[in-house]
Amino acid sequence: MIMACTAAVEETVHMHLEEQVRFLNDRDNKLKDLILEIQKQEEEHLDYAQRNMNANAGVKFIKYIVSVATEIVIFLSTWGDNIRMKHDLEFMRE
Ligand SMILES: [Fe+2]
Repeated sequence: MIMACTAAVEETVHMHLEEQVRFLNDRDNKLKDLILEIQKQEEEHLDYAQRNMNANAGVKFIKYIVSVATEIVIFLSTWGDNIRMKHDLEFMRE
């Protein structure tokens, strides 16, 4: 269960780090590089959790719940900025 929780949090955080890197590209390359460094460390945590996680149905369900909870916490902690940034990225793509 600990590995499932770790994998859920790491996967969710990775998705947000990817969005931040895309958003910062050519806007603030210094901050982008810092996030890329953090991302490297976080990938180790994710790899470790995925390698050591038991992937039965119960664990997958807990992982899903933790992923949703992590999304909610990120939304609340950024006051929705993460959603606005994602929207801006999609708008820039069009
Ligand atoms: Fe981590």
